[in-house]
Amino acid sequence: MTSLAHEFYFSEEILTSEQKHFQFQNVFLGHSSFVNKSQNYFVLPHTNDTKFLIHDGQNIEVLPNICKHRYATMLKGKGSCHKIVCPIHSWSYDLNGNIVNPTGIECESSTHSLEKESIDIYDGFIFPENSSALKNALKAAKKFTDIDFEKLNFFAHERFFVKVNWKSYMDTFLDNYHLEAYHPNFRTFLDSRYIESIFKDDFSVQAIHLREKPQIKTPALQAYLDCYNKYIGKFPEDYGAVWLCIYPNIIIEISQCFALVAIVVPESIDSCSIYEYRLVEEQFTQHQDFLKAFEKYMYEIEYEDHDLMTKIHQGRKVLYQQGNKHYGPYHPTKEAGQEQFHDYIRRIISGSSNNFHPVKTKVLSY
Ligand code: FES
Ligand SMILES: [Fe+2]
Repeated sequence: MTSLAHEFYFSEEILTSEQKHFQFQNVFLGHSSFVNKSQNYFVLPHTNDTKFLIHDGQNIEVLPNICKHRYATMLKGKGSCHKIVCPIHSWSYDLNGNIVNPTGIECESSTHSLEKESIDIYDGFIFPENSSALKNALKAAKKFTDIDFEKLNFFAHERFFVKVNWKSYMDTFLDNYHLEAYHPNFRTFLDSRYIESIFKDDFSVQAIHLREKPQIKTPALQAYLDCYNKYIGKFPEDYGAVWLCIYPNIIIEISQCFALVAIVVPESIDSCSIYEYRLVEEQFTQHQDFLKAFEKYMYEIEYEDHDLMTKIHQGRKVLYQQGNKHYGPYHPTKEAGQEQFHDYIRRIISGSSNNFHPVKTKVLSY
C-alpha cells in the first residue's frame, strides 16, 4: 500500500471535488465556554465570520451572521449584546434571531429572521444535529484521558496561514513516524514507540505515553512542567498526549488539562488556514503564566511541524510537475493513522486516482 497520489495535493479538480463533498467549516460549531453567560456572543472565525454562537439566557444557539437585508456580516469577535444590530442600515434581531420590525420598510418575520441552526451539544462541544463523528471521537478519547470536556474554558484563538495543501497539514498530524527524528522532546520525553490507537471510519484517536524516565530537552517544555508543578503538582505519568482527528479536517490535541482544537480549511490548492481554539480546565483560566507556558511549548512543536510539512510539500510538488509517480510505502504502525485518513479521502473523493481500499474499523495497540 502506498501513499496518496501527488495529484491529490496539486489538482484543482480534486480540490473542487473536496469542497463539494466536505463540510470544512461546519462540523465544529464551537464550545459552550465560548458563550458562558446570558447575552454573550462569539463569531466563529473558521466559518469566515458567517456564523455566531449566542447565549439567549437559556440555551446556546448558532445563528447566521449575515443580515437579511443586503447580506452584510454583522457581529465581530465576541462580546455581549441584548440584540443583534446590523451596522449597515440598523436592522435588528432579538437573541433568537427574530427580526425586530424596522420602521419604513416592509418585512416579514418568517422570511427576514435569522434561522437557527439545528445543533447538538455533547460535553460542551457544539456540532450540527445528526453528525456523530465529533461526538464519537470525544467518547472514544475517554479511554485515555479523564479531562472534563464540559468544564473546559476557552482562553485563546489564533489563525495561521500555511503554504501547503490542507491534507499535508493533516498528514503531519497523523504521522507518528517523524516524531523521534524531528522533535527533540519526543526523543526523551514522550514515547513514540508505544502509541495506542482507535481507528474508525470517520475519526481516529491516538494516545502517546510518557517515557519511563522522561528527560526534558527544551526550555519551553521545562517552563511548562514548572508551571504544571506550581499549579497542579506532580506531572501525570500515563499519557503525554491524546490526539483526535475527526475526518476530514478537525484536530483535537489533549495535553493534561489543555485541549487545543484546530480546524484546517483549504484556501487554495497549496495553502490553508488553521483556526486554533485553545481551552483549559476552568480552574486554571486565570493563571496567565501557565497558559503562556503551554502556548510556548505548543508553538515549538508547531514550528518544527511547519518546517517538516514545507519540505514534504516542496519535494512532492517537483515530482508532480515532472509527472513522476513514485509513491513511498506507509510505516505499518507509525503511519497507520495517515493511511486511515488517506483511505477516507480515497473513499469519498470519486474519480480518485490511486488504489481504493475500504477502511476497516480496528483498534491497534503497539
Ligand atoms: S445590510 Fe443589514 S440592514 Fe441593510
Ligand atoms: Fe510533528
